[in-house]
Amino acid sequence: MTTVPVKSDRAVVLWLFAMCALLALMIVVGGATRLTDSGLSIVEWRPVTGAIPPLSEAGWLGEFEKYKTIPEYHQVNLGMSLAEFKAIYWWEWGHRFLGRLIGIAFLLPLIFFAVARRIDRPLGLKLFGLFVLGGLQGALGWWMVSSGLSERVDVSQYRLAAHLGLALLLFAAMIWIALDLLAPRAMAARHRLAPIAIALLAGVYAQMILGAFVAGLRAGRVYNTWPLMEGRFIPAAYFTGAPGFADLFESMAAVQFNHRLGAYALFAAALAMMIAARKTALYPRARMVFAAVALQAALGVWTVVAGTPLALGLAHQAMALIVFGASLYLAHGSMSSIEITPSSSAGPSGARGSMTAATGSDSAPMTPFQGTRRTGAPSPAATTASAPPR
Ligand code: HEM
Repeated sequence: MTTVPVKSDRAVVLWLFAMCALLALMIVVGGATRLTDSGLSIVEWRPVTGAIPPLSEAGWLGEFEKYKTIPEYHQVNLGMSLAEFKAIYWWEWGHRFLGRLIGIAFLLPLIFFAVARRIDRPLGLKLFGLFVLGGLQGALGWWMVSSGLSERVDVSQYRLAAHLGLALLLFAAMIWIALDLLAPRAMAARHRLAPIAIALLAGVYAQMILGAFVAGLRAGRVYNTWPLMEGRFIPAAYFTGAPGFADLFESMAAVQFNHRLGAYALFAAALAMMIAARKTALYPRARMVFAAVALQAALGVWTVVAGTPLALGLAHQAMALIVFGASLYLAHGSMSSIEITPSSSAGPSGARGSMTAATGSDSAPMTPFQGTRRTGAPSPAATTASAPPR
């Protein structure tokens, strides 16, 4: 019987959740950087020295001169003042600085926990893998920015989608690992709705990537009506006859319509999941996902009808992360048949919580445990407890 052993540490779990919060903040600041058209204001990639912003008037003028060499300045921002330049610079600098801060806030505790042997080797390796992916995300960010520095006046929507896609994978992996530490998974006892919960999670991810195409093409500033687009359900400009599948990702009409369609499908799927999960332990989580999707769909409609102002664009992006987080929580719950009850975690040194097979009663609520500390070798009960399949 395959089980994931319990060996969690309150500080490690808190640290991982704090990292998730920082990643979410990073994604929202990234959205603000894009929505304020600030993303191309720093035309170089200096991973270390770039942490220091211009400190003198001469420094600012130097940065401004570099910005004046790219097409965006000439075609979009010609004649902008130094003060206006500083405003867009600070957004992009803040986004990059937060990236550096996250790297440090992740690496230093990781080293500490590894040296103090508060994380085991497999977990340490997984987390180190995430650190490497985080570095790759920085490089991907630069690859995205560089696409807007020579011929275009904005970044490639494909690269934007890749940048958001990897950010979401990092966010998901971090949440999943933290949830694993809270509620170990028993592979032999997945909930019968687990495949649907996983499919829903994949659907949310795909919908967010479709959203990145809407954002990348600024397609939220056109077709500002709902439910029809220029008087039709399927906009007339959906097919422009571009070769291959280019239309799907390059025409404003198509990307916005696809994103709408994705939302309708997601709404129906989340509703179906909630109905199917009635009277099972998954219901509270399924209800949470449905509520988040419904709210997000309404917010999306409001955003598009209003022509995507900054505040609504940001709220829509932040809410997307909540939908994603809730879907991860549901999917993880569908794979976790072991419940650890806080009542039995005792002792000043934080003794191990007890584990019960939540699947014994399908309607038992699935509650995250309140944190345990590893104290020597795991007890047999803690390492082998598992539950029958549902
Ligand atoms: C229900 C599930 C939905 C999810 C999970 C979702 C998610 C997202 C995400 C992640 C973005 C990209 C944000 C970025 O990269 O900056 C986005 C953009 C966008 N979405 Fe949605 N969305 C949903 C529904 C809708 C609906 C129903 C509409 C409108 C009918 C809509 C309209 C838009 C618009 C206009 C943008 C572009 C905003 C911008 O330029 O910042 N969304 N969406």
